[in-house]
Amino acid sequence: MSGESSGQPVTRRRLLVTGGGIALAALAAGRLAGGAGDGDGDRVQAVRPAPPGRPDRQHVWDAVLRTDAAGNRLAPRHHRLVHLSLTGPPTVAAAAVLEDALRALEERYPLGPAGLLVAVGWSAAWFAAVGRPSPVPAPTAITADEAPALDAHAACVHLASDREEAVASAERRLRGALRPPLAVADVRAGAVGAGFARRIGRGANGVPPGQPPRDSPLLMGFASGRRRNQAGEDDVTVADGPWAGATTMHVSVLSLALATWFGSLDDDQRAARMFAPGIDARRARATTAGLELPGDLARTARRHGLVGHAQAAATARVGGRPRILRRDFNGRDSDQPLVHFVSLQRTVEDFAATRRAMAATAAVDADRRVGAHVNNGINEWITTRSRANYLVPVRSRRSCPGLAGWDA
Ligand code: HEM
Repeated sequence: MSGESSGQPVTRRRLLVTGGGIALAALAAGRLAGGAGDGDGDRVQAVRPAPPGRPDRQHVWDAVLRTDAAGNRLAPRHHRLVHLSLTGPPTVAAAAVLEDALRALEERYPLGPAGLLVAVGWSAAWFAAVGRPSPVPAPTAITADEAPALDAHAACVHLASDREEAVASAERRLRGALRPPLAVADVRAGAVGAGFARRIGRGANGVPPGQPPRDSPLLMGFASGRRRNQAGEDDVTVADGPWAGATTMHVSVLSLALATWFGSLDDDQRAARMFAPGIDARRARATTAGLELPGDLARTARRHGLVGHAQAAATARVGGRPRILRRDFNGRDSDQPLVHFVSLQRTVEDFAATRRAMAATAAVDADRRVGAHVNNGINEWITTRSRANYLVPVRSRRSCPGLAGWDA
């Protein structure tokens, strides 16, 4: 199916995706934008038909994830963030090759953690390259005390699976398929889940033998993502406008200073800082749908001289619901333990507001024992190395969104 018989430069993607229905309707309605082609019409490769059964919203993973006894979703164990850059002006041919490669992955692996989950996001740099207004802002520092690198990749492909060989081979296949001007610029790999944090942390800076606990999914020793502490997939979906059905994805790299985290605090002190004072390690590790977190940060600060991370982040809630859906995982760069923080939200401002809430300024203002870092959640132990924002469009527009002659 070439999808390019009329010579029209636009809506080739829709011809490819639908077998022509939408494009023919658009033609009949005289809505085909003209003249914006890249002149490579004859070289557009045939794109295989989309395998059936994948939801149109790329970020809809929850229905297929494993759950624990309290109904909390368990993240896929292995992750890769494959970052794509542009080596020249984007072309329809390269878009078709990318879409074909993604469809080939979906043909090869079933949907779900036993197979493969894929979500592709596009940055403000990409939208600038295709001359379209960007639905996401370029990344910036968020708090006054951070100076992260600001990623300028065109796109980020999040690959996830319970099988490491699935994410590794998906990355290889993607690399092998891509054609200029799209190229793989950077890959971030990691894992999350019981046993994997211990394995990733072994011998890393600041991680003593025996830490984190064997059943801990995270390097800092606890589990996250209880369902009441997460936004839902509908909550983070763009409701209307040209990108209806999409979500936004924030991707950052956090560097962890674990020597004092494990060396100068006991387990209950760590739980108080991760969750809230009064929540001990046993309660923090209990499998529940969500923990009650004291909401008045000033009061907690005056009473305990410290506040917890989760209780601070929860002050960003709107209507009692968290604004971000976290899909982060543990990583390591040489000996340095990392968190690859991936979060989905309706707008990037939802992420920024949540990150500002984590700074717990009400607690800092209320009690001198609480500073921007000291006695303030986990802020003392994390440094933001880099930030990036992406739009994750619906699956039918996931390759090169906004590219004239393809998706415009
Ligand atoms: C090393 C990095 C981090 C670790 C280990 C971590 C861990 C946790 C844990 C254990 C919880 C408890 C509740 C749960 O999810 O089950 C939590 C809650 C939360 N965290 Fe983090 N977190 C980290 C960084 C961040 C960052 C960078 C943000 C973004 C601003 C964030 C936002 C949140 C939110 C929104 C909640 C839920 C609050 C609510 O219930 O409304 N976290 N985190």
